[in-house]
This record gives sequence, C-alpha cells and structure tokens, in this order.
Amino acid sequence: MTSDDRHEVAELIYISINHWYQVHGMPAIFAGGPAVCNIFFDTYEALDPQCGIVAIDEESGIVIGSCFYHPREHHVSLGIMTVHPNHFGAGAGRALLDWIVELSSVQNKPVRLTQSALNVDSFSLYSKAGFVPRHAYQDMILEIPATGLDFACTAVANVRSATLADIPTLVELEMQVAGISRAQDYEFLIRNDDGNWHLSVYVCPDSGKLLGFLGSCSHLATNLMGPGVSLDEETAIALLASELNRQRGRTPVFLVPVEADKIVRAAYAWGARNCEMHFCQILGDYTPFAGVNIPTFMPETG
Ligand SMILES: CC(C)(COP(=O)(O)OP(=O)(O)OC[C@H]1O[C@@H](n2cnc3c(N)ncnc32)[C@H](O)[C@@H]1OP(=O)(O)O)[C@@H](O)C(=O)NCCC(=O)NCCS
Repeated sequence: MTSDDRHEVAELIYISINHWYQVHGMPAIFAGGPAVCNIFFDTYEALDPQCGIVAIDEESGIVIGSCFYHPREHHVSLGIMTVHPNHFGAGAGRALLDWIVELSSVQNKPVRLTQSALNVDSFSLYSKAGFVPRHAYQDMILEIPATGLDFACTAVANVRSATLADIPTLVELEMQVAGISRAQDYEFLIRNDDGNWHLSVYVCPDSGKLLGFLGSCSHLATNLMGPGVSLDEETAIALLASELNRQRGRTPVFLVPVEADKIVRAAYAWGARNCEMHFCQILGDYTPFAGVNIPTFMPETG
C-alpha cells in the first residue's frame, strides 16, 4: 500500500465493513462518507510507515482488498482486514493474510488480532489459517449525556492522564498482564498529535504504583475505549469511568473480557448495552492474560 492508495483504501474499508454488517441485518458501522475511514491509513502510516498491503485484481488492476500489520517486539498484530464485497470468497482475504503470516514467521513472532465473533466469514478465514480464539469479549455501548454520567465510582480520583515518563512502566505492566509490549503505541496516544486520542493511568493511592492504563479514540469513525490493561477489575472500572466521561455527548464502545464479571455488572449498572462479541485470535505462542485486557480496533496493535 502506498499513499496513492489512501482514498481507495478508505472507500474499501467503508463499503466492505458496512456491507457485511448490513447484509447480516445489523446497522452500518461507519457513517458520514468514506473519507471518515482515512483515519485508518493516517493512523497506521504514522505508527508503522509502509506496513499496509493491498490485493489487486489481476484483470482490472483495481484494489480489491487491504490490510495493515504492526510488527512489535514480541508479536505482529493485524489491523483492519477488508475485501470489496464484489470479490468476497475469491481468495483475496487469504492472500493478504498469508502475506502477513509469512512475514511474522520469518520474524518468529505470533500473529494477534481481535475478530468479530458474529462474523463467520472472518472466523473461517483465521481459523483455516491456524488461528485459535484464546479469549472472548463482550462489546458494550454506552450513551454519555452532554453533562457526563455519574459512574458512582470514587476510585476515578486515582486516575490521571498518562505522560511520556510513564511509558517504561506501561511497557512493564502490559508485559506482566498480556505478555506483549508496544511502547510506540502508548507514545502515539500520549502525544495525540491529531487530537483523537487520550491515555489514562491508574495510580494506587497507597503505594504510588501504576496498576493500569486505558486509552481512547474519539474520532467520528471510531469512538472506542482501549487499548488498556490492569491488574484487577476495580482498576479497570475506574479507568473506564474516567475515560468514558471524556466522551460527553457521544456513544462510545468498549470491549470487556467475558469473565470480568465485576466490570460487566458495573457497565450494565451504568446503562451499557451489548452490541457485539469479539475473540482474541492468536496464531502461535500465547500467554494467558494475568489481569484485565481491554482491546481496541484503533489502533489495533494488541
Ligand atoms: C472476512 C473477509 C476479509 C474474508 O475475505 P475473502 O476474500 O472473502 O476470503 P477468502 O475468499 O480468502 O476465504 C477465506 C477462507 O475462508 C474459507 N471459508 C469461507 N467460509 C467458510 C466456512 N463457512 N467454513 C469454513 N471455511 C470457510 C475459505 O474457503 C477460505 O479458506 P481457504 O483459503 O483455505 O480455501 C471478507 O469477507 C470481508 O472483507 N468481510 C467484511 C469485512 C470483515 O469482516 N473484515 C474482517 C474484520 S476482522
């Protein structure tokens, strides 16, 4: 993928994802026109320059599929995978996936991604290629009034914005909880050059130790919480309450590990509703999470 593909890739992501959801009886994911999907190229080009690939139709020469990948210290993650609906089922998705799997195997790293549990087409694509669903999440959606929401959570007082000086501790924490690290992603969220991002940390009032962090994206195309990890569910609840209240007047989505019952109960008490399910799909070595992991699709680097 080159910068010349930027608009075509945005068109492709917009039509591919919206088409898939709409023909399966669900609302479109993106609204406002295909240009909103330029955020994928722009974010991933800033984070991982030249780590996008496209599938070209041999006869017409047009772009019929695209995908981004993110090489990190301990893994490679796969970003948004899309094929044009006119070309579903013709092998483009598998060709893109094989390319990334090959690159990861040369680097001797597992491949990770977050995949919709409602989408049998993408499930089959990854399952046939050897991926194993290692973890499940329930996606929850919550309307935040313009005046903010009373989350009834006093521990939000222990949450503050992350700084660049926190990065080494964030790296250590994610290694401990998820067995991966991604310093450049934390830096990207903290620097927030284009105004779409934020990253919070939870500091234990007694020990002064950092017990968790959570990011968010407030872009029009994708209003999502994450990435985040924490040592326990109470920390994740405080981080969510704090980060969600930054989205006043919006309706953000967040992914909760299905077994994190305290977070799930808190989210229902806030008024959150289920909107989808996702799997953490991994090809290769996997360390079970030792704490709470809140993944995201933008940037999808976990
Ligand atoms: C998911 C998506 C990318 C798949 O791309 P595609 O080009 O249509 O997929 P392919 O033709 O390469 O087929 C993928 C594999 O799934 C297999 N497959 C498809 N349906 C299957 C089923 N029901 N059971 C078992 N295998 C199945 C195919 O046989 C193929 O395997 P093979 O290469 O070993 O033969 C495409 O449907 C898409 O863009 N969907 C909308 C966007 C989306 O969902 N993106 C994924 C986000 S995680």
